[in-house]
Amino acid sequence: MNKRFAIVSVGAALALGLSACGGGGAGSTAPGESATSAAPADVTVGVAMPTQTSQRWIDDGNNVKSGLEALGYNVDLQYANDDIPTQASQISTMINNGDKVLIVASIDGTALSSQLADAAAAGIKIISYDRLIRGTENVDFYVSFDNYKVGVQQGQSLLTGLGILNADGSENPAATGPFNVELFAGSLDDNNATFFYNGAMDTLKPYIDSGVIVVPSGQTDISQIATQQWKTDVAQKRMETLLTSADSGVTLNGVLAPADIISRGIITALANDGYGQGGKAFPIVTGQDADIDNVKLINDGQQYSTIFKDTRLLAEEAIKVTGDYLSGNEPEANNTTDYDNGNKVVPSYLLESTVVTKDNIKTVLIDSGYYTQEQVDKGQK
Ligand code: BGC
Repeated sequence: MNKRFAIVSVGAALALGLSACGGGGAGSTAPGESATSAAPADVTVGVAMPTQTSQRWIDDGNNVKSGLEALGYNVDLQYANDDIPTQASQISTMINNGDKVLIVASIDGTALSSQLADAAAAGIKIISYDRLIRGTENVDFYVSFDNYKVGVQQGQSLLTGLGILNADGSENPAATGPFNVELFAGSLDDNNATFFYNGAMDTLKPYIDSGVIVVPSGQTDISQIATQQWKTDVAQKRMETLLTSADSGVTLNGVLAPADIISRGIITALANDGYGQGGKAFPIVTGQDADIDNVKLINDGQQYSTIFKDTRLLAEEAIKVTGDYLSGNEPEANNTTDYDNGNKVVPSYLLESTVVTKDNIKTVLIDSGYYTQEQVDKGQK
């Protein structure tokens, strides 16, 4: 209800802004012509999402589309099936079609420079969505979560699950381990992967250095533990390889997983190896996104935690920034220091994330209307 109200209010403000500065002019704008003179019905916003293999991007796409449409805009929503050339060509088409703003969640953050140069030349504003677009001047704004903090939360929840930290965050001196933990990271072409890794490793490293945590494979560098394109099967294969090599004969106590899509592959490999059966407890497995399948895994005790990033709020922020650009205003940033894309520090608006375990599924995910109890029970939306 609040959300709907917020969107309607932005819509009202936008309508006023547009008619005040442009006389509410009807008729299509040619590519490159200022969008501020156009009525929403004559404006198309291009939304480029990376993939439909993870539920979060489907929700992101739907939320952005429906929110913009509620304001009267046309939306061209495209998914690129994790294929970099497909995403580049979708963006070129959006530019050629005269879209006025592009909202882009990139696959490879460095692979879109030439398309974005064309977009900037046509006067199109570019909003980097969730993942930072790198190596170009031509990105105007970044909407995301505090990605370093997401990594810290993953590290902390792993420590809490292992009993090294108490629920209040204090240390439990009795938990001396050693705890066997393997580490996974995301896709190296996604800027977020490094932020998650740095946050988690800054949190875990003191315990690795003191020997409370042992990484049986010795693989701790991001290049050794990365998961290309965040693929479930790539993570599953690496976990299987570990279970038959470094971790064979070892009881694993924890696995740092940077995203639910990766946790699923890890959990499948662990289950196939006998974890969760015959008194062999599942290790503490982390995650991110609160994907519905994983919320069920958490409810069932196979996954320990996830990090909830409310995609409704991220979509709302992207819609707000789009509205600002289309009405000729500069959007408000809350971070102007942390996201240097190699060419410029991109003004950013960062949202907060929440750790979810079995204990707070109800208060965080169900009471907020993100899921129903029935969806959680079924593991399906
Ligand atoms: C997003 C995560 C997501 C991952 C894989 C990252 O860029 O921030 O929410 O789990 O991509 O899709």
